[in-house]
Amino acid sequence: MSYPITRGRRLRRTPALRQMVAETTVAPSDLILPLFMADGLEAPRPVTSMPGVAQYPVDAAVAEARRAASLGIPAVLLFGIPAHKDEQGSASWQNDGVVQRAIRGIKGSVPDLCVITDVCLCEYTTHGHCGVLQGQEVANDATLPLLARQALSHAAAGADIVAPSDMMDGRVGALRHALDEAGYTDTAILAYAAKYASAFYGPFREAAGSTPAFGDRRSYQMDPRNAREALREVALDIGEGADMVMVKPALAYLDIVQRVRQHTDLPLVAYNVSGEYSMIKAAAAAGWLDERRVVEEVLTAIKRAGADLIITYHALDAAGWWAR
Ligand code: PBG
Repeated sequence: MSYPITRGRRLRRTPALRQMVAETTVAPSDLILPLFMADGLEAPRPVTSMPGVAQYPVDAAVAEARRAASLGIPAVLLFGIPAHKDEQGSASWQNDGVVQRAIRGIKGSVPDLCVITDVCLCEYTTHGHCGVLQGQEVANDATLPLLARQALSHAAAGADIVAPSDMMDGRVGALRHALDEAGYTDTAILAYAAKYASAFYGPFREAAGSTPAFGDRRSYQMDPRNAREALREVALDIGEGADMVMVKPALAYLDIVQRVRQHTDLPLVAYNVSGEYSMIKAAAAAGWLDERRVVEEVLTAIKRAGADLIITYHALDAAGWWAR
């Protein structure tokens, strides 16, 4: 049946009709808020390249987490910036490290909020790479025990989910094994399964102080030209025990989100990364885009592509817009 019998516009006439036939919804319960906490800060330090985002002292990070929970956001993702870095990233597994203290603070203050921790070495190493170096190379197998140590310290502090973002081969299995051996059988793993070597991480490196001192991350993160490889990475991480999988970044990779969705029934998370956030913030500040409408469109698109959950720096703004 075609025009004039069929008229697509009939169901677009009023807000109620459009609401009734809407196929995709986004709510605060779909969002995960990333938070940066830095050791030794007295007050929040704004991240210049990410307007509205800051590095927080631990107590202020806990307050942000409480604000997220009060707006209906179910989870936060924690990143730490240590006072001292070394070759191994040893500050990442200290019992009194900045992330470990924040986990305890959040669990003490808002116990129902889900705490996810980023597990990686790049914020903690002097060279800024995600693993330890042998010469100029990032050594895969030597990095695994260090990541496991970090994940264990997060679990011990009370993290609900650990999220390895380093892209070493075998790290999900290494984490699962270490967690189970230590009795943390209920700590879940969210694998950054298909993580691409993306220029959209640019602003994050200021936020997390994790710019590589030399080279780039292309020897461990995925090549943006590859899609089938993402399915292999996802399958490997699921085989090693991932409870949830992630595609990152989101917007330039919605085809990957859609393909991964068709491949797994596990919860699928998409990371709406720093550069995606900063582009919108900059254009909105210049008066070139309507921030709220663009953010809602972007979050809807990520859900429509197949993501169950979205990690996004827009989470507090969006949940605020949608409150009541
Ligand atoms: C750490 C990590 C990065 C991001 C999340 N975890 C940076 C990177 O891999 O270079 C990027 C997040 C963002 O851009 O918002 N490995």
